[in-house]
Amino acid sequence: MRQKSQTVHEGGLKKLQAVDYEKCIYNCLLIKQKFIGRGPRYIYLFKNQICIGKSPFVQIPERQFQINQDMRIQWSYKKNQLKSVIFQVGGEQFEYFGTNEQLRELKQKIALYVFQVKIQDEYQAESILGKGSYATVLELSSLQCQKQYAAKCIDQQRINEKKNGYKQLLQEIETMRILSEIKHQNILQLHELYIGNQNYYLVMELAKGGSLLSLMKKRQTLFSRSDIRIIMKQLLEGLAFIHSHNIMHRDLKPENILFMNKDLESLVIADFGLAQSVDSHPYTYPKCGTPGFVAPEILEQDSDQAKYSVLCDIFSAGVILYILLIGEPLFEKKDRKEQLELNRKCDINFSKFSHDQLNDIEKDLLIKMLSRNPEFRWSANSLLKHKFFVSDDQIESEIDFYKLNNMAILKKSMMPTFLKNPFMQNNCKNQPTTRDKSISLINRQRNCTLVMQTNLRFDKSSQEQLNIDQVVGIGSFGLFKDEINQKNF
Ligand SMILES: Nc1ncnc2c1ncn2[C@@H]1O[C@H](COP(=O)(O)OP(=O)(O)O)[C@@H](O)[C@H]1O
Ligand SMILES: [Mg+2]
Repeated sequence: MRQKSQTVHEGGLKKLQAVDYEKCIYNCLLIKQKFIGRGPRYIYLFKNQICIGKSPFVQIPERQFQINQDMRIQWSYKKNQLKSVIFQVGGEQFEYFGTNEQLRELKQKIALYVFQVKIQDEYQAESILGKGSYATVLELSSLQCQKQYAAKCIDQQRINEKKNGYKQLLQEIETMRILSEIKHQNILQLHELYIGNQNYYLVMELAKGGSLLSLMKKRQTLFSRSDIRIIMKQLLEGLAFIHSHNIMHRDLKPENILFMNKDLESLVIADFGLAQSVDSHPYTYPKCGTPGFVAPEILEQDSDQAKYSVLCDIFSAGVILYILLIGEPLFEKKDRKEQLELNRKCDINFSKFSHDQLNDIEKDLLIKMLSRNPEFRWSANSLLKHKFFVSDDQIESEIDFYKLNNMAILKKSMMPTFLKNPFMQNNCKNQPTTRDKSISLINRQRNCTLVMQTNLRFDKSSQEQLNIDQVVGIGSFGLFKDEINQKNF
């Protein structure tokens, strides 16, 4: 591989700077092949640059690559084993050799910071797992270890066309990276980054259990109270972790809550596409979220300088709790503008529910999560100490009623959470229940994430993200599959 003698690159050349090794994230020793002979090279990874020196900890390194939009990493292989890493910077390539083990370790660290090329060298695309407001998620199998992963595929053109699109993508990656540094069991982990000809790929852990929305649709009934407790506890534990980093998720909804396996106790929070650090002001998209789930204070924003807190996520979690308990959307209108208005006003009447539908403890918890004024909302950590989570009043909830066969003999008054699930697909019409008036989620509009302009109140015409079906048509899997599975595209 040809290597020129120039030294520092930042999409071009720049003067070498002294290195502060205290900020180094990872280092390793590789080999540079020269025209005659070979020499050791000490590689240091930093959050924003890669430094390479002929000896350890040199003040002025031989090369200094800034990690930016143009930098790429390529790997070369010999019989499926890694042979070298190639840094592609400013139109040039710099290659360093090592053992498969050394390079695998480097790959594991560096792949969270820099986009790698040729995803098809590592993965095979299997199927489409889901589609969100701006991405299609594929199941991948690793060619190295047969393990399954998920790849969030984001169309480069769409990102480039969207105002602040690339900035927001970097924010999503940065958030997942921060939250992956110390693994939390309720947060979906980012594995590595790739870039293809048309897409960015965020390779993540595979959540085999599907989304909370898909579970809701599949069930015959609403979740039992003990199941709701299990779900909400994990959701709040995940939120407490995110919030401890001063990060807001801003798009919590059943589609973005996943399960690692069939066990309800494997919940992970996913989709950090709108995540935002509370202190990084002004926010990239001050007014965003999903109608019906978004906190009222976000909808009140009319300025690009908007500021709010992590408590906006507590509101969305409260809406999810409401849906799990009652089986109906909290703010529901066919017209999106009206729905947002209902959402903004946040006039919730809990007194209409009987004690069977909502007991006092549940009502109290909902009030603490759904308060219109964020100042009165409880934090995730405080909510985890609420009676709802510590109560031993679990007489009815400890039984998984779902498993019982003879539904007809069950008394609704005894088992309110056993009423027919209005979210279920193919809801059977000849078994009327008190909740038959509820509208199935299937028939409702998608819970589409919106980015709204702060100065235009609820005008969705230009700000609403395109329906994914328009963007990714029927043949879309073929498109991704081609990009991933074709060798040497
Ligand atoms: N790691 C994963 N494992 C399994 N399915 C996933 C994973 N990530 C996302 N999905 C599925 O893909 C859908 C869209 O992903 P998401 O990250 O929410 O994209 P968007 O930002 O476009 O909403 C999710 O609702 C979920 O059904
Ligand atoms: Mg999503």
